Amino acid sequence: MRRVWNMSAGPAALPTEVVLEIQREFPDWRGIGAGIMEVSHRGKAFSGVIEAARADLRELLDIPESYAVLFLQGGASLQFAQVPMNLAEGKSADYLITGAWSQKAYGEAARLGKARVARADEPTPFSGTGKSGLARVARADEPFTRLPGIDALQLDPEAAYLHLCGNETIHGVEIDETYIARLADRAASVPLVSDMSSHILSRPMDVRRYGLLYAGAQKNIGIAGLTIVIVRADLLERAAPGIPAILDYRAQAANDSMLNTPPTFAIYVAGLVFKWLKRQGGLDGVEKTNRAKADRLYAAIDESDGFYTNHVDPACRSRMNVPFNLPTPELEGEFVRASEAAGFMGLKGHKSVGGIRASLYNAVPEEGVEALIAFMTDFRQEHAN
Ligand SMILES: Cc1ncc(COP(=O)(O)O)c(C=O)c1O
Repeated sequence: MRRVWNMSAGPAALPTEVVLEIQREFPDWRGIGAGIMEVSHRGKAFSGVIEAARADLRELLDIPESYAVLFLQGGASLQFAQVPMNLAEGKSADYLITGAWSQKAYGEAARLGKARVARADEPTPFSGTGKSGLARVARADEPFTRLPGIDALQLDPEAAYLHLCGNETIHGVEIDETYIARLADRAASVPLVSDMSSHILSRPMDVRRYGLLYAGAQKNIGIAGLTIVIVRADLLERAAPGIPAILDYRAQAANDSMLNTPPTFAIYVAGLVFKWLKRQGGLDGVEKTNRAKADRLYAAIDESDGFYTNHVDPACRSRMNVPFNLPTPELEGEFVRASEAAGFMGLKGHKSVGGIRASLYNAVPEEGVEALIAFMTDFRQEHAN
């Protein structure tokens, strides 16, 4: 078996321990004579799997009883639409734009109803539907290197909710707990909604500060096909009349996320990852490792005499996704080719911004980051003039 240092942005590396557990249990899950993906979602075996996954997630994130935990499908992108369908109640919603993903979420909300950009500068105009079919907003050249000052934000006190993206996977901008706490204070009774797709479970997070949070599973939770939504029970009452039952959080909550067949295999994998996280010392444990990994990599970038550069304000540099540049696009291409030959995967930056991106999710071990830094040092020595 060969396992490379997988630094893909998502779908991303799973802990090798979990991959081997899946392999072991694949044909015969705990003696039932069938794989877990081959049995009814309503049977005893799978009911145990989903209940354990939900309980372990509640424990890891310290989710209060007053929040529902939903296991849905459609990816985080469906949440861009499902959130306004369920929470907007015909009112306007505020969007904090800090990178490409919050921009996309805003675009979808603007398509469905009223949405405002809660920025300190001029509002970002909605500019129709992009190539991907998802709505987009203008100013795609926005550099997204810092968070707007909280005091200067223009917030609507009557907004249905205030949406943010806790970690911008493409631009490498992460919002820390201090900023969230100050934002929640300023938002007052307006509930915060966060897209946590790329940093959920990477550190302790105070769920109580949010009305709703959601995350696609294919980065820190498990594999593609599952989307987790954690929503405060009182918000379940807001669903727009006439939305399809499958998109109605309240109907999903009332049916324990089994309104139809849930993504059983993805839920099983998430359950194994949650158990693995508990063995790492829970979120306090992984935060320590994640902080060490990111600090080491940013230090290597900052100490490279300008050969490697990351332009994000150190106050909001992502610990999960580290985008960086080399002096020329040609060198960046050479870097990606050489890294693949040296046993790395997934270092090419997102096509919209180019450059390099190292994603350091929970499953990427410290040794992988050390190996990357050693590779970067060698590459620089060879190519710097
Ligand atoms: C922060 C964030 N939000 C949303 C998405 C879209 O997720 P999905 O492909 O599950 O719809 C991504 C995908 O990378 C992401 O990183």
